[in-house]
Amino acid sequence: MRKPVIAANWKLNKTIAEAQAFIQDFKPLVENISNVEIIVCPVFTALAAASESAKNSNIAIGAQDIFWKDNGAYTGEVSAPLLKDAGAQYVIIGHSERRGRFGVPEADLEGDAGKVFGDTDASVNAKIKAALAHDLIPIICVGETLDEREADRTDSVIEAQVKAALDGVEGVEKTIFAYEPVWAIGTGKTCDSAEAGRVCGFIRSVIGNVTNQEISDAVRIQYGGSVKAENAAELLSHPDIDGALVGGASLKAETFAPIVEAAFR
Ligand code: PGA
Repeated sequence: MRKPVIAANWKLNKTIAEAQAFIQDFKPLVENISNVEIIVCPVFTALAAASESAKNSNIAIGAQDIFWKDNGAYTGEVSAPLLKDAGAQYVIIGHSERRGRFGVPEADLEGDAGKVFGDTDASVNAKIKAALAHDLIPIICVGETLDEREADRTDSVIEAQVKAALDGVEGVEKTIFAYEPVWAIGTGKTCDSAEAGRVCGFIRSVIGNVTNQEISDAVRIQYGGSVKAENAAELLSHPDIDGALVGGASLKAETFAPIVEAAFR
């Protein structure tokens, strides 16, 4: 049995004080939930304060990105040892918003400025290796754009992303994958649970092909994209969906807690 894992991706939201207030409000709502891994991913600047607030609770802290070198002349980057120093145990890697949402620069960023969202399959792979080398659990995001889905390329895109992510990776059984169809993120459009489950099962089979069945049976696979209290139970009832990566609905304790409860089996 894989332990369900529910993660809050706060994206670019919440000050230190707001992160602390969320955790104080959220703790009593989930304190009796024992067999669900609960993760909150604040911005870098709130990591240390959030992990201090979550001490002695069943809430773990994750970061939203990582750089693959430990230290050196890499202005502006944050490495695995520093994330651990700030209390993180998990890290989201290769979110579509970091790979370059919709494959193009943000509309309000002129010219080369869009390259700031520059994750590629190769950087995702390097980040996964760096996380695992320091006992940080990577939450590896994969997903197709709307154009790719409409061109019937969903499975080939996902397969290529999973294979590239895991190239040369040791310790795959510790990783968490998140299937996040790009067209369902922040749009209110959820992938229907049968299709979300099918793709999560497909991801598991690709993991099995590049490792073995014992490992692919152990990997947790989340669904992400407009998950909310109303659709969480149905999505999580699919045997290949082991959790959720939640954006918008994770920003308030009272909307995130019911999603965690839906995973409590
Ligand atoms: P959403 O975001 O729940 O707001 O759609 C999910 C994600 O980007 O991880």
